[in-house]
Amino acid sequence: MSQIFLNELEAILGKNYVLTSEGDTTPYLTDWRKRYTGKALAVLLPSNTQEVAAIVKACAKANIAIVPQGGHTGFCGGATPDASGKQVVLNLKRMNQVREIDASNQTISMEAGCILQAVQERAASEGFLFPLSLGAEGSCMIGGNLATNAGGTNVLRYGNTRDLCLGLEVVTAQGEIWNGLKGLRKDNTGYDLRDLFIGSEGTLGIITAAVMKLYPLPISQWTTLVATQDIASTIALLNLFQKRATSLLTGFEMMTQESLALNEKHFPQMRNPLQNNPPFTVLIELSDHESEEHVRQLLESILEEAFEGGMMSDAVIATNLSQANSFWHMREHITLAQAAEGANLKHDITVPLSALESFIQETDHLIRAQYPGVRIINFGHLGDGNLHYNIAPPEGVDAQAFNLAYEKPVHELVYGQVERCGGSISAEHGVGQLKLEGLRAHKGAVAHDLMKTLKRALDPQNILNPHKVVSI
Ligand code: FAD
Ligand code: MLT
Ligand code: ZN
Repeated sequence: MSQIFLNELEAILGKNYVLTSEGDTTPYLTDWRKRYTGKALAVLLPSNTQEVAAIVKACAKANIAIVPQGGHTGFCGGATPDASGKQVVLNLKRMNQVREIDASNQTISMEAGCILQAVQERAASEGFLFPLSLGAEGSCMIGGNLATNAGGTNVLRYGNTRDLCLGLEVVTAQGEIWNGLKGLRKDNTGYDLRDLFIGSEGTLGIITAAVMKLYPLPISQWTTLVATQDIASTIALLNLFQKRATSLLTGFEMMTQESLALNEKHFPQMRNPLQNNPPFTVLIELSDHESEEHVRQLLESILEEAFEGGMMSDAVIATNLSQANSFWHMREHITLAQAAEGANLKHDITVPLSALESFIQETDHLIRAQYPGVRIINFGHLGDGNLHYNIAPPEGVDAQAFNLAYEKPVHELVYGQVERCGGSISAEHGVGQLKLEGLRAHKGAVAHDLMKTLKRALDPQNILNPHKVVSI
């Protein structure tokens, strides 16, 4: 049966694009964090939408489950197959063409396998900003960004991936092609199918192409690192920037002392240019379309007001692009430092800004009291109320053993605080297989049952990424 099925796939894709040997498939079977490793009947590399549709039809006929995959940089194991060896991985990397830039409509239309950074560069070469930006941009793909509704560092100004998307092309679980590639900013013709597929992590359909928004490139950007002493003044600083800089505020990222200590341990060249290792280091970016002078003066005047108001103790303004880049690298290397340190317990949470201080104070207190010596690697997109509140074992303690013993109670403690504060247990990384358990409790029975109803309606055979997000 397997061989007949594989022959059918080879007839659709050509022999070279149906990978079955261990050497060929291994790179597609372990996630970025090395937390999940699966097996696959085959890894499939289609080159166009018609091939994707034909594969889905063949899989539906043979009742074979499909795991869609982009850059495989997701943090929740969504793109990793299970251990059965009966699923196929459908990697979209060969579908990497920008189809069109419509300058007058300010949109870009592209295939799902385009690497995010390549899209940013292509947009910039035509004088536009494609604002989605995240640490994995050199390898994650637009299809994966859409399927996870990725966030990143520009959400504060431009929104999540969902907010940037105007249209989709999707292959359904039945192998039909839905062409919803209209670049419209208004369209109220019934249920929003586009929004249904965005963030569905490959469980409702396979995204093969998208039309996304473009923006004018800013003519000037100023980046600064600011030292703050506590979370209350950090939030006061954010509110001041929101009030005075309004839409010119494009980044507001927070890093705690402990996060940067881990960075320096693994990347000694990433020293914090701020003196005396402040409790909180905030990376702030302003972007302007008027003039260099205008935004610099604005930044200096806001910093002056913040200093006089006791919200900050020190600041370093980047004087050139390379210094600004080094500030961003420092921020983005925290994830890499954590990976180098070994396994850690990740929490990608949001709470309303008004509850952030209470969340951090109480959760820090409980964690330190119950797990003495652990390192709280807390950093993230503070402007969005989104914290990467990660827990690393005490220095010198074996990470695997620590996680085995404490993963469940630590998650329960943190998620309990998230619920208390009216937050979400997944701000931007999604659910995948990591957060499958416990989603019902978090969403509530009604919402969870509605999700299952949708899954059953769109994928009654349960062949699209089964046991990710919801199990039916
Ligand atoms: P994959 O990991 O391949 O897949 C992710 C999910 O989408 C899976 O469930 C998969 O089945 C599904 N999928 C993939 N492609 C398709 C498709 N074409 N159709 C349907 N389903 C599909 N995330 C953030 O949100 N913000 C960040 O700031 C951020 N920073 C990161 C920094 C680093 C260093 C790393 C390694 C990751 C970071 N991430 C971040 C997580 C990750 O990069 C994002 O989730 C990204 O959107 C995943 O894209 P991908 O192409 O790698 O998707
Ligand atoms: C980031 O913002 O750098 C990633 O989403 C964070 C992480 O490593 O949790
Ligand atoms: Zn993030």
